[in-house]
Amino acid sequence: MKGILLAGGSGSRLYPMTRTTSKQLLPVYDKPLIYYPLSTLMDLGITEMVVISTPRDLPGIRSLLGDGAEFGLRLSYRVQNRPEGIAQSLLIASDFIDEDICLILGDNLFLLNGELARLRSLASGQALETAVVVLCPVKDPERFGVADCDAGGRVLRLVEKPKLPTSNLAVTGLYFYPSDVAGLAATLRPSARGELEITDLNNLYLAQGRLRALRLERESRWLDAGTPDALLEASELAARAWRNERKPAGYPEEMARRRGLISQEDYEALLRSMKPGTPYLEHLRALSASLWRS
Ligand code: TTP
Repeated sequence: MKGILLAGGSGSRLYPMTRTTSKQLLPVYDKPLIYYPLSTLMDLGITEMVVISTPRDLPGIRSLLGDGAEFGLRLSYRVQNRPEGIAQSLLIASDFIDEDICLILGDNLFLLNGELARLRSLASGQALETAVVVLCPVKDPERFGVADCDAGGRVLRLVEKPKLPTSNLAVTGLYFYPSDVAGLAATLRPSARGELEITDLNNLYLAQGRLRALRLERESRWLDAGTPDALLEASELAARAWRNERKPAGYPEEMARRRGLISQEDYEALLRSMKPGTPYLEHLRALSASLWRS
C-alpha cells in the first residue's frame, strides 16, 4: 500500500504561529509535528509516499524530509495550491494511486497499541474491498467528523462537525481506501465552506456499502494537534511516553531501523551525521541501545 501524507492547510487556529510557517513544522516535544504521522505510516509498513503541502510550505517540508532515502523511504511531493479540502489530496495524487492508499493528516498524532497488527494487515494484506476509517472516542466530538454506529459497531452515518453530536466517536485522520478512490473523489462537489470534504467521500463509500470502521483501543491515543491546547497536549503526551515508559513516538530514524528499512550500518552512519549533543540524538541513541537489547 502507498501513502499520502497531507501537510498543507492554513492552520488558522494556530495563528500567529502559522503566519510564516507550516503547522506541520511546529515543535511537538523534541521534533517537528510531521515526524509523528510520517512514523505512523512507516509503522504500518508503508514506504512509498506522496507528501502534499502548500506552495509556501512545501520547500521547508521537502528540505526536512528529502527523498526519504535516509529513512528507507521513497518520498515524492505535490503542491496543493489552495486549501480546498482534505479529499482534494486524492485528486492531486491521482496519478500516484495505482493501488490501495492510506491517507494520514499531517497534524495527527497516534500512539497505537493493540490495533497495530490489524492496521498493518490492512496496509499489507489483500487489495481492499472497502474503505476503512479509524474511530476514536473523544470528549469534544463537535470538532470532528463523527460516526454514528449501531450496537454491532457498523457505521450508520457520518456527520462533519455536528452541532449536536449523537455519538462521541470521532473519525481520525487515518483513512484506508481501495484503488478506485480517485475516481470517487472526482465526483465530489465543494461543500458550503468551499472544500472537498473527506466526510462526503466516506459517505459515498458508506452509500455503496463499502465502508468499515476500526475503533482504537482504550490504551491507544490519538490527537489532532490543530489548536494551541491540543498542540501542547501533543507535546505532553510525547514527552510523557518518552520519560515514563521510554516509548518512542515519532522518531523516523528509529522506526526505519526497527522496521528493517535501513541496515545497522546505515543507522549508525545516520546518527553520526546528525548534529551532536542534541536531546533528539540522545533519545535516538538510548532507543538504539534498547532496540538491540530486546
Ligand atoms: P484542518 O485542521 O481541518 O485545517 P487547517 O490545517 O487549515 O487548520 P485551520 O482549520 O486551523 O485553519 O486540516 C487537517 C489537516 O489536513 C492538516 O494537517 C492540514 C491538512 N489539510 C490540507 O493539507 N489541505 C486542506 O485543504 C485541508 C482542509 C487540510
